[in-house]
Amino acid sequence: MRLDKFLCDCNLGTRSQIKKDIKAGLVTVNDQAARRPEQHIDEKEDTVCYKGQICTYEPYVYYMLHKPAGVVSATEDQHDQTVLDLLGEDRRNDLFPVGRLDKDTEGLLLITNDGVLAHELLSPSKHVEKEYECHLEKTFDEEQKVRLEQGVDIGEKSLTKPAVVRVLDDKKIILTITEGKFHQVKRMLHTVGNEVTYLKRIRMGTLMLDSELPRGGYRRLTEEEKERLGENK
Ligand code: URA
Repeated sequence: MRLDKFLCDCNLGTRSQIKKDIKAGLVTVNDQAARRPEQHIDEKEDTVCYKGQICTYEPYVYYMLHKPAGVVSATEDQHDQTVLDLLGEDRRNDLFPVGRLDKDTEGLLLITNDGVLAHELLSPSKHVEKEYECHLEKTFDEEQKVRLEQGVDIGEKSLTKPAVVRVLDDKKIILTITEGKFHQVKRMLHTVGNEVTYLKRIRMGTLMLDSELPRGGYRRLTEEEKERLGENK
């Protein structure tokens, strides 16, 4: 791999800045000054230092974000702040959110550059569970529960797959679904005669939203979380 690409993947700056830094002698490979950005290195064997610090190569990165309302699940947007904007210095241009939450939805969003994992988590054939806390406009009753559990007609080719419903109180439920159609939860509740007033995703597959993470906060996944998610691959 080229030295400048390696340093970029280590999240140390833009490619052009890194090229300048290499030429300025700020980078060593195996204790030898490296002055050519195009120099090839072996990212598993060579020791690369940038400004005296050893650089560790991470081809894939995984962040759990607690998405706040008002931010869009996109990599860039003309008008709104995006979930990637929330990553500040950790932002790199190969990252993307795994799936979308509506602008007014909060909660768990995985951000990564691992396209294979994203595909596995989003693929309809994998039926990965997504769990949502829903606050409702009207009292939730047994009939609505049974209809959601059986599957409802939200105007797609087929009924929604059976959902799991846990009632928290008369206007709050936890809904678990295995699909990811556009506005699916809101459309399901609308179809049974209710309306969602607040929506928060709290789980995707094996990944639970960390209750310590404030709105807008993010952290890297732990090794265990990565391993368990990888079981979807
Ligand atoms: N279902 C919705 O209606 N909105 C979301 O953001 C996610 C699931």
